[in-house]
Amino acid sequence: MNPKKLKEKERRRARVLAEQAWEAASQGNLDLAEKIIRRAVSTQEDNPVLWNDQGEILSLRLKDSEAARSFAAALSLAPTFADPYARLASLRLRQGRFEEALGLQTQAVKYAPENASYAERLLEYQALAGRLPSHDNLPAADAVEPNEISSPESEDDWPQRLETLDWHALANRLTRDGCAAIAGIVDAPTCDGLCGLFDDDRLFSKTVVMDRPEFGQGTYRYFAAPIPNVVDRLRRAFYPHVARIANDWQQLLGESERFPEEWDRFRDRCHDAGQTMPTPILLKYGAGGFNALHRDLRGAVFFPIQLAVVLSPRADSENADTGGFQGGEFLFCDSPQGRKSHRRELALGLGDAVLFCTRDRLVRTGGVVGLQSVKHGASLITAGTRFVLGVPFHEYR
Ligand SMILES: [Fe+2]
Repeated sequence: MNPKKLKEKERRRARVLAEQAWEAASQGNLDLAEKIIRRAVSTQEDNPVLWNDQGEILSLRLKDSEAARSFAAALSLAPTFADPYARLASLRLRQGRFEEALGLQTQAVKYAPENASYAERLLEYQALAGRLPSHDNLPAADAVEPNEISSPESEDDWPQRLETLDWHALANRLTRDGCAAIAGIVDAPTCDGLCGLFDDDRLFSKTVVMDRPEFGQGTYRYFAAPIPNVVDRLRRAFYPHVARIANDWQQLLGESERFPEEWDRFRDRCHDAGQTMPTPILLKYGAGGFNALHRDLRGAVFFPIQLAVVLSPRADSENADTGGFQGGEFLFCDSPQGRKSHRRELALGLGDAVLFCTRDRLVRTGGVVGLQSVKHGASLITAGTRFVLGVPFHEYR
């Protein structure tokens, strides 16, 4: 076979292998995906797209060093290829290397200025990098009565503070990506007070211990009624904003039903359906903890967006003994996963919120708006303790 034909044959074979690798990844078999993508790369070693794919699959396998080398190999073959920069930026962010992530994401935007998603992520990274690290010297979290948690800086003015956010941009991001981070929305004393509630059995109606690989590793507790004021106020402050977004989606989807503008009226709708149990939860993960990717499907009456707030400081990678947690990124992805499917990984820290679609996100295909199933979870916490407040806007039966 002449060299040109041989080359073409290798290219075709490598492409088929890459497709098979992503098929295996979409079925959750990352071990097989890794084996196949390695074969693809060795079949056509001068193909930067394959190195980039290998980097992404190794990244999903949490083999960070090898993943980084794969992205670097892709870039050495194609220095203006934007995607490896963006993927390596995401990896560095997960490792807490914020400045490096910023630099890499800047390169991604430079080489693909038309990619709005890269630009949005650059803004997120700038917001996160500009705020971290700042988690030292938190007050101790002794037993605190839930309704005594005071945070004059933020709790009372959450409605006003949320008004100042760019909800147009947040709505666009939620509509396009299915999730959106808001940095530093809850102050440190309030976070600390909420963490301090975790061991008070009087406050919770149910405790779930996750200890299976298909669910996760960690503990979460459902607040009993009445839920702490601080959680109730946060939910009420966010609700009108997310209700407007959800109603825009209803319109785009051609649905006639609308969500009420105030949370109490939406709660009445839940109660009419027999859903009267509070849904907010407090989650606690130690080292080795994680939350497997899942959809939240409870509730015939349900709200499509959920709020979560990270209550623990993230470790500063430059100074890992500051006591924060490591790993534990918020994960969000299409389900099933495929080569072109959407995936987000947000390295949230103390007081950072994320709004995310609990079941489906909107997708536009050929001018028609439809729904794409999505999952969320948390990646492995490699050190420290990570508390999270989860706030669905509907109630359960
Ligand atoms: Fe969930």
